[in-house]
Amino acid sequence: MATYQDFIQQNEERDGVRFSWNLWPSSRLEATRLVVPVSCLFTPLKERSELPPVQYEPVLCSRANCRAVLNPIQVDFKAKIWACNFCFQRNPFPPTYHGISEVNQPAELMPQFSTIEYIVQRGPPSPLVFLYVVDTCLEEEDLQALRESLQMSLILLPPNALVGLITFGRMVQVHELSCEGIAKSYVFRGTKELNPKQIQEMLGLTKPATPGQQGRPPAPQEETSFSLPSTLRFLQPVHKVDTNLTDLLGELQRDPWPVAQGKRPLRSTGIALSIAVGLLEGTFPNTGARIMLFTGGPPSQGPGMVVGDELKTPIRSWHDIQKDNARHLKKATKVRYSSPLSVSVWKAICVKKYSFNTSLFKQTFQRVFSKENGEFRMAFGGTLEVKTSRELKVSGTIGPCVSLHTKGPCVSEIEMGIGGTTQWKVCSLTPSTTLALYFEIMNQHNAPIPQGGRGAIQFVTQYQHASMQRRIRVTTVARSWADAQSQIQHIESSFDQEASAVLMARLGVFKAESEEGPDVLRWLDRQLIRLCQKFGQFNKDDPNSFRLSESLSLYPQFMFHLRRSPFLQVFNNSPDESSYYRHHFVRQDLTQSLIMIQPILYSYSFYGPPEPVLLDSSSILPDRILLMDTFFQLVIYHGETIAQWRKAGYQDMPEYENFKQLLQAPLDDALEILRLRFPMPRYIDTEHGGSQARFLLSKVNPSQTHNNLYAWGQESGAPILTDDVSLQVFMDHLKKLAVSSSA
Ligand SMILES: *[C@@H]1O[C@H](CO)[C@@H](O)[C@H](O)[C@H]1NC(C)=O
Ligand SMILES: *[C@@H]1O[C@H](CO)[C@@H](O)[C@H](O)[C@H]1NC(C)=O
Ligand SMILES: [Zn+2]
Repeated sequence: MATYQDFIQQNEERDGVRFSWNLWPSSRLEATRLVVPVSCLFTPLKERSELPPVQYEPVLCSRANCRAVLNPIQVDFKAKIWACNFCFQRNPFPPTYHGISEVNQPAELMPQFSTIEYIVQRGPPSPLVFLYVVDTCLEEEDLQALRESLQMSLILLPPNALVGLITFGRMVQVHELSCEGIAKSYVFRGTKELNPKQIQEMLGLTKPATPGQQGRPPAPQEETSFSLPSTLRFLQPVHKVDTNLTDLLGELQRDPWPVAQGKRPLRSTGIALSIAVGLLEGTFPNTGARIMLFTGGPPSQGPGMVVGDELKTPIRSWHDIQKDNARHLKKATKVRYSSPLSVSVWKAICVKKYSFNTSLFKQTFQRVFSKENGEFRMAFGGTLEVKTSRELKVSGTIGPCVSLHTKGPCVSEIEMGIGGTTQWKVCSLTPSTTLALYFEIMNQHNAPIPQGGRGAIQFVTQYQHASMQRRIRVTTVARSWADAQSQIQHIESSFDQEASAVLMARLGVFKAESEEGPDVLRWLDRQLIRLCQKFGQFNKDDPNSFRLSESLSLYPQFMFHLRRSPFLQVFNNSPDESSYYRHHFVRQDLTQSLIMIQPILYSYSFYGPPEPVLLDSSSILPDRILLMDTFFQLVIYHGETIAQWRKAGYQDMPEYENFKQLLQAPLDDALEILRLRFPMPRYIDTEHGGSQARFLLSKVNPSQTHNNLYAWGQESGAPILTDDVSLQVFMDHLKKLAVSSSA
């Protein structure tokens, strides 16, 4: 029999799904006792080369409140009837399926097509829209670099895509792209809130009631605007306007309003975005669109402002937020837009390393438009729907999505993440976009699900492909039920500790958005202790006897690094930086998420090929070069001796060619990571004693520092793991708490 590791890997490759448990407990009570909920990471558009889309429509279950898609989980070929594995409705096959048999099957009935993609032919293709929203209060260097990057992007966009331009500073300007000769734009005040209808009226996008207009010859100067559909004044196919738009971008000037000494420029970021939304809703509603915001500072007037224009008032810090001292926070977080949007924010700040004039920005931005096998790696306007068989309900989702508030029989009353719905909008998707989904087992303890059966979950992802086609990808998965009393060891060995670490981390990050940091850590600790109590083998009150089986052995270590990560620790980060880290954490796939939780460390030396080493201070040695990948940063660290040799220039002497090669090896590996990663990580080259060495030192397990002596968890008496201790101390205390008869 294949091991669970093979099983997990096959399922991930085929369906883009990783479950916390691959055998499911047969009652709700047993499920809660497992601590980690039945949940999964799901990558809706996972790249699969052997998955050519089919050119017909999916066959749906005829029951009105089900509409599940036909799939290979359970089929009766003889009766020419398929029983829906979600509602048990018996459905006749459609006439076109008349000839089917065990040897002649449509693709969706073959086991290897538990994930299948349909190209929907219905209706005309709808365009893709890219709307650039550009801050003009940038430093001249930033603006110049941004102009060039935006001009370059026009070559990279899908040629049929529509493109538009809004600029903002103190005022907001919507630029017409079709005007002859002279550039024309509509100007809005940056402080006045407008609803979408008002915006559309001001842009002339609503068809005014014009009785009697027929037969009236248009005035000569009106002719062009009348003959053009009004929608095309602001959004034009890029292949038509690339020259004009290149000129327009080239002429973009810094915001002309003078900024007095001691003041910040006024940035109307909030109004600029609501106008972008109003424009899209008034022209191409329900179409795949991306708003790309390029900005160089905080919104400082109008809706969403986070700081006033007095430079002496600093931007709110985490400390201000915790002390309820962030003046504009409440109002700013209340800003809501009328449609779910896909806004990618590109931010430069006056710090050199975050300028638009860096290769970090330029290359990351270009990577948005990168192609794989001739296809763009982006998809638009997605919705994800989840259907469950009766024993399960969906509690919620954590990922780059919003609720579509679709009630139905599969909705659990217990919310985890964004719940209360079976459908979510995922405005922009890439092949690595990954959502976490959490489920509730419905059966009561005294009426458990009979063994031998399987529960099923179906994911239906509808989206607009970059080729403008509408597509539906359907993934149907099933797992067996197991009695958690007699089969607890089977359930334990079905545990996917990597997926579970990420799924619990997402719950923690989601909580951190609304709860105090220490409360979140305490919650994570309690879950970890309970899991160890449930699955650890030990004699009561004897920490030394504590053992975890192989399927759980790495899990506590993931939690140790998660507690120290920037997703949960805000010390030394601004609220904006924390948001940035969390934003990326809740959308990446499992591999990238694990790197974010527990960075990878490679060691290079003369003693052998590069090797992964423990993320531990004991790995920092004088004659080693280390390469650390934290997802956001790539750090190359030269040990003390290596650094001295490098300073002495040995690498330039022909007789030390091998030293030159040693220096080069981690660089080559870093380049390979840089080539593929989005967003581009920051690259840091440092050495023993260097100021940037802190990037490495803050991540490694402090196994050799004073805090081994640290006594902790005592002040409150509660089972709490104190911050910044070594993994060893952490594990010792975890064991103590797990085996304690009083905890
Ligand atoms: C951008 O940076 C490069 C390299 O640092 C510099 O040569 C160039 O002048 C900068 N561009 C502008 C517009 O300042
Ligand atoms: C581009 O600008 C030229 C003149 O500047 C104008 O004649 C032409 O119509 C514009 N093209 C589009 C597609 O609006
Ligand atoms: Zn059904």
